[in-house]
Amino acid sequence: MSATEESKSGQERFLEEMKRAPAEAKSKTREELVMIYKDISYPSCVCSEKTFQALESFEAREDDLLIVTYPKCGTNWVIGILHEMLFCINGKKPTKDPVIIEFGKPEKVQILKEASSPRLFATHLHYKDIPKSFLEKKVKTLLILRNPKDTAVSYFHFCNNNPVLPSYDSWDLFFDDYINGKVCYGSFFDHNLAWGEHMNDENIMAITFEDMKLDYAMNLKKIADFFGLSLSEEQLKVTENKTTFKSMKDNSEDTHGKQGSAFFRKGEIGDWKNLFTEAQSKEVDAKFEQHLAGTKLGEKLNYKKYCEY
Ligand code: A3P
Repeated sequence: MSATEESKSGQERFLEEMKRAPAEAKSKTREELVMIYKDISYPSCVCSEKTFQALESFEAREDDLLIVTYPKCGTNWVIGILHEMLFCINGKKPTKDPVIIEFGKPEKVQILKEASSPRLFATHLHYKDIPKSFLEKKVKTLLILRNPKDTAVSYFHFCNNNPVLPSYDSWDLFFDDYINGKVCYGSFFDHNLAWGEHMNDENIMAITFEDMKLDYAMNLKKIADFFGLSLSEEQLKVTENKTTFKSMKDNSEDTHGKQGSAFFRKGEIGDWKNLFTEAQSKEVDAKFEQHLAGTKLGEKLNYKKYCEY
């Protein structure tokens, strides 16, 4: 199989999945949409126990690239950025499927074994659940963070626009599940706390959604440098233009299929102010204070600036 065919079939497989999963979701009850593995809930149309077990023997490579996010913190944005950057350098994009480590069938482990380097991965897994090989090989890992209030609002809309996830009749109902860690991938605060403990690891770099919005060019350069991708000013500019919110939203049907626009909703900072009540805001403040205040990750989130009511 040629490199172009390999990459093309990866994109085709991805688009097929983007059709298959919502169709499967239609035949499931709200409860059936969620599966639990090692105390964390996952969307059952895209995750399975068998895949989690198969991933235990997954072998990472030193030149793999890994993006880690809690859901709705900019995963697809940064996947898009790295696709463009790798395309600039290699003339081909890394295979699009299966890019999210924990999604897909157990056979993916074999497919990934045969995929050419560099392989790009993203995951929402908690630190303790990452296939051990990523840690042993010290794979370069980019942690994308976002303030917990905008993350909540983004997650709420996504649950109601993506049939794969349980939907909510009201923001208040969603908020209760979010603050209590009863959404897929569990608590934002647990996820951030555990990854935050590794922010000083030599192979991990954290940047925030908000910083990317405020100084995109500078953060693109930071991402390229971190992964050792040597891009000219012109190539960085091309990447920047192709991964603006507008550009990604306009292309979303090509990249993500019919449901594509659900992944590119507003792309703004501060949308939480449209939904949060003062009491809900205070509840998140208390959780932040309890779990993340005073940590390196907490400082990086610039909480006061982005989350003050
Ligand atoms: P909103 O729902 O607030 O708009 P994920 O990919 O992890 O699911 O994250 C989705 C969030 O990232 C959505 O937030 C989406 O709009 C935002 N996003 C995606 N691409 C973006 C871009 N190029 N620029 C800014 N935000 C982007």
